[in-house]
Amino acid sequence: MVDLLLGLQWGDEGKGKIVDVLTKDYDIIARFQGGPNAGHTLIFDGNKHVLHTIPSGIFHDKALNIVGNGVVIDPVIFKNEIDNLSNYNIDFKTKLLISRKAHIILPTHRLLDAASETLKGKAKIGSTLKGIGPTYMDKTGRNGLRIGDLELDNWKEKYSALAKKHLNMLDFYNVDLEFNLKELEEEFFKAIDLLKSLTFIDSEEYFNQAMLDGKTILAEGAQGSLLDIDFGTYPFVTSSNTTAAGACTGLGVAPNKIGEVYGIFKAYTTRVGSGPFPTELFDEDGKAMAKVGNEFGATTGRPRRCGWLDLIALKYAVQINGVTQLIMMKGDVLSGFDTLKVCTTYKYKGKEISHLPYNIEEENIEVVYTKLTGWKEDLTGLTKANELPKNLNDYIAHIEEFVGVPIKIVSVGPDRKQTIIM
Ligand code: GDP
Ligand code: IMO
Ligand code: MG
Repeated sequence: MVDLLLGLQWGDEGKGKIVDVLTKDYDIIARFQGGPNAGHTLIFDGNKHVLHTIPSGIFHDKALNIVGNGVVIDPVIFKNEIDNLSNYNIDFKTKLLISRKAHIILPTHRLLDAASETLKGKAKIGSTLKGIGPTYMDKTGRNGLRIGDLELDNWKEKYSALAKKHLNMLDFYNVDLEFNLKELEEEFFKAIDLLKSLTFIDSEEYFNQAMLDGKTILAEGAQGSLLDIDFGTYPFVTSSNTTAAGACTGLGVAPNKIGEVYGIFKAYTTRVGSGPFPTELFDEDGKAMAKVGNEFGATTGRPRRCGWLDLIALKYAVQINGVTQLIMMKGDVLSGFDTLKVCTTYKYKGKEISHLPYNIEEENIEVVYTKLTGWKEDLTGLTKANELPKNLNDYIAHIEEFVGVPIKIVSVGPDRKQTIIM
């Protein structure tokens, strides 16, 4: 079976931390979508690591890490990630396997991303500028370059043809972009050489054989359900299916092979980039969450927008993904608030509704909150479920009741050890 771990909000829920915590129970950790727009933070033994493409199981001795076909890979960022881990004596050739069907982000994809955002002006998506949108466009447009192409004699011709096409598109966009293609390509080809020293596999075959052999697999989502290309706050979304179905297409695993679906969420909400955010705060409460929660993007360093927990959105994500267990992160950040609010109803065009409608733009949505009493206790040193303050238990019970799924893990700090199994 394949278990899934999926972000239920707008990303950065703490997926990296929890995948690292859960890896001891799995033989294989696999990424199935997204690319270096992701930034997954792991903290243990006093060290912090941010992974973009490499699955978050890489620090464990036993687990194999696989980059699935649904992922888009930037060889340059990938090489940096590997170089950054040089102190760890990881045998990447045997511990990190890459799907031949994963697509490659070219330097010109990044340029197209930048040009597209510039052209959009105020309506920009707030993309991480890693070339994600243009690479997935080439994938669905049937123009993309895949990892398996690197094994062909004529791959450089394929590269040149695609890059040339991109340069024509950039001419057409006609925006001011400064770049030195020669330098970008030098860096790219150097990184390709490293990539080619790793192991490429027919990953769908690999996963299915691994399951026949009784191996356990954990699929690590990137981004979050509200950034899903179909079910997120379109067009302010990413370009892949971040929800459960994305794991089937991004790994080649059938729906009836999916086991547990872990849904991970922050005890409040954050969003980085543009787009609607009904429970966003612009007051001292929002500032306190940002400060205590250290809410800056792991990939771009941009400040994250903060707000109260939105149970309407959470329930929607639980339903779309078929979540079987919830994981609540950053409970520690809410310590000290007298009152906590959770959104339990939307007023949509003046009418009360309890689902996420087509459009959650500010002009259509008014949020209705339920107030809960906060807790004062510092949670960061707690290790056992029976040590949690009563008001936190009430907060947890309220969420569980609203969405109808139990919270099985509560995270009370960024370190691997600050994790409470309920
Ligand atoms: P991901 O993209 O879902 O893996 O999440 P990110 O790594 O982008 O963002 C999560 C941030 O919160 C990181 O800086 C983590 O170190 C931090 N973090 C994770 N869990 C907790 C927690 O329970 N409490 C606190 N205070 N920080 C946490
Ligand atoms: P992890 O895996 C938070 C957001 C961007 C932007 C939108 C589109 O760390 O949770 P893109 O570069 O994909 O075209 O950007 O999606 N975004 C993320 N926000 N966490 C992420 O990943 C994100 N990946 C993309 O900020 O709003
Ligand atoms: Mg992140």
